[in-house]
Amino acid sequence: MEEKKKVIFSGIQPSGNLTIGNYLGALKNWVKLQDEYDCYFCVVDLHAITVKQEPKDLRRRTLEVLAIYLAAGINPDKNTIFIQSHVPTHSEATWILNCFTYVGELERMTQYKSKSQNSGGGESVRAGLLNYPVLMAADILLYNTDLVPVGKDQTQHIELTRDIAERFNNLYSPTFNIPEGYIPEDGAKIMDLQNPTKKMSKSSDNPNSYILIMDSPEIIRKKINRCVTDSIGKVKYSDDQPGIKNLITILSAITGITHEEIEKKYEGKGYAQFKSDTAEAIINELRPLQERVNDLLKDKKYLENIYKRGAEKAYYVSSKILRKMQKKIGCIPVSRSSESY
Ligand code: TYM
Repeated sequence: MEEKKKVIFSGIQPSGNLTIGNYLGALKNWVKLQDEYDCYFCVVDLHAITVKQEPKDLRRRTLEVLAIYLAAGINPDKNTIFIQSHVPTHSEATWILNCFTYVGELERMTQYKSKSQNSGGGESVRAGLLNYPVLMAADILLYNTDLVPVGKDQTQHIELTRDIAERFNNLYSPTFNIPEGYIPEDGAKIMDLQNPTKKMSKSSDNPNSYILIMDSPEIIRKKINRCVTDSIGKVKYSDDQPGIKNLITILSAITGITHEEIEKKYEGKGYAQFKSDTAEAIINELRPLQERVNDLLKDKKYLENIYKRGAEKAYYVSSKILRKMQKKIGCIPVSRSSESY
């Protein structure tokens, strides 16, 4: 008998244009894991509205993120690819899980602390920003997920997901699988090109601080050329040289060449050649992906087919767990005429 595959769930917010941080921290690993696991890859549009969004931009970016998943090599015939707002069980489960989550836990999340400060703090912080990790917990727990491949910045949210799941399981009876995070060895935290002590982020105000998956070769060359380094002049993977360390991480995550080999290759050569080679490696990695994204975006019917199919499967699987949750907490079950989407 064929052994049941373990389950992966992961997602990316269409809250800005995706960066090579999203690519190297998440997407590239999803592609590597997709054959071994039963995977759910979601475009988490409801997460994106925790900060202000222009509706037409959100629609455009949601489709673009979906196209990027496919262009990066996620196979739609083997994986479930869907848009979060198409599957209402996520919002329903979030409400229930909210009732098993403490405000103090949510206020301790570092992402909440920094994002709430950015949005003015105090009265003007949206409740959705505080509750965001509960929606993420619902995403993960609704599929009996075993593994969540993400970048390092998400580890605190996964810890919280585990705590909520364990709390629910202890109060009632085992309901949820307890998921594990899966953080890549290289690329787990790509840093800001202008301030390499900060994470590269799609929501940064300074376009020179990030490289977008869809940036043109000229822009990529310019951004790498201008990125902040130091005056030491040695290509070394060291905390004293965060800018250079970040470029080594990027080059290594793309090419698979180890940090030591990179240091050796550029010994005594300064930064110019190293920067230029790093830019070319990024360009070569992204070029075929960008061409596929542009082709895919011309075929909206094809994309629609994929996200419709994905939503049906995701709804079918997640509604079983949602009903289990409802039953355990005391909601009266109702037999429905159809279980279909
Ligand atoms: P988001 O949209 O901020 O980022 C998507 C993925 O990209 C990773 N990432 C990075 N990795 C390395 N270096 C960086 N500079 C970098 N920036 C982003 C993130 O770690 C993430 O893996 N809450 C999540 C989305 C989400 C989710 C989920 C993830 C919602 N529900 C369920 C997993 C499972 C988020 O905001 O990711």
